[in-house]
Order: sequence, then structure tokens, then C-alpha cells
Amino acid sequence: MIIDYFVSVPFSVVNLFSYDALWFTPQEIYPYSIKETKMDKIERIGVSLDKKLLSMFDKLIARQGYQSRSEAIRDLVRRQLSEERLGDPKAKGVAAVFLVYDHHSTKLADRLIGLQHTHILGSSLQVISSLHVHLDEHDCLEVIVLRGHVGEINKVAESILSMKGVKLGRLNIMAPVPAGP
Ligand code: NI
Repeated sequence: MIIDYFVSVPFSVVNLFSYDALWFTPQEIYPYSIKETKMDKIERIGVSLDKKLLSMFDKLIARQGYQSRSEAIRDLVRRQLSEERLGDPKAKGVAAVFLVYDHHSTKLADRLIGLQHTHILGSSLQVISSLHVHLDEHDCLEVIVLRGHVGEINKVAESILSMKGVKLGRLNIMAPVPAGP
């Protein structure tokens, strides 16, 4: 059995590009009469789903704590768009590199600091921030936050994670989709 229900998805991509060619936007000329509201950016769409599939989806999003189907579907769409963007080395991304290492490997600590000073504000790949936690008398956790093109982030992260002395490491990278609430 097929069930129809409605979800709301942001439609601000269209709004972002609608008035690029105009010298004045309608909002600037008639700020009160055509003022854009949040609801203007929302488009309601209908989705057909098999009843069993819908039931499984509802159980899944209930377990995850979603308050509405719309919010869950918006997140799914964003996640899928972000995943697709990660395939483009030129896409803009943000990432966190997690690594555990023994701070007695002094060369590694120096190399990590040196690498972070190389990628400061102004360069195409930036180290935005880093966090250092002393786990025990030997091991440290370092979280390095990067921003830049996906290809560059992957390259630098690989060079960090392959450094001698890194015991555990992981790259967590996202390519946020710019439009939408
Ligand atoms: Ni430490």
C-alpha cells in the first residue's frame, strides 16, 4: 500500500540566486511590502512511500530522537548532498583530525606543531584550531580542526595520520551544503 504524506524542505537555493542580476533587489525597493519571511523559503512536497518502509523509517527516526519526519528528511538530504560534495576535491570542507600519540615521541610533537604553523589563516588550507588533552602519563589526544578544499584536507590529514608515533587516528570530514536553515 502506498501512503502519501507531506514534508517541508528549504528552497532557499533558488532564493539565493534569483536576484543576482538586479542592481536593486525588490526587498531594497519595497522593504516592507515584499519582505521575505521564513515561510517564503519553505516548499512543501509530497512523498509516496510503501507503508512498511514508512513504518521502519518512523521507528528509526523515533530511536534517533527526531521530533518530525520533515526534520529527519531534511537531515538525510543534507547528508547525501554533503557526501556527494566530498567526491569533489575542489569542494569546500571542514574537518577534524583526531590522533592519539605518546608525547615522549618529541619529534612527532614538533612536527605536528610545525605543520599547524604552516597552515595558518590566509593559506588555502587553514588550521582553525587544535585541542590537546593529556590522557595519561604517556598518551595525548590531539584534535586538529581544518578548513579548505576537500582534496587538500585529505592530503594533509593523511600526512598527519601516517606520522611515526601516531598510535590511533581518524579523519572526520564534512562538506556542508551552504543553503538552507
Ligand atoms: Ni599531552
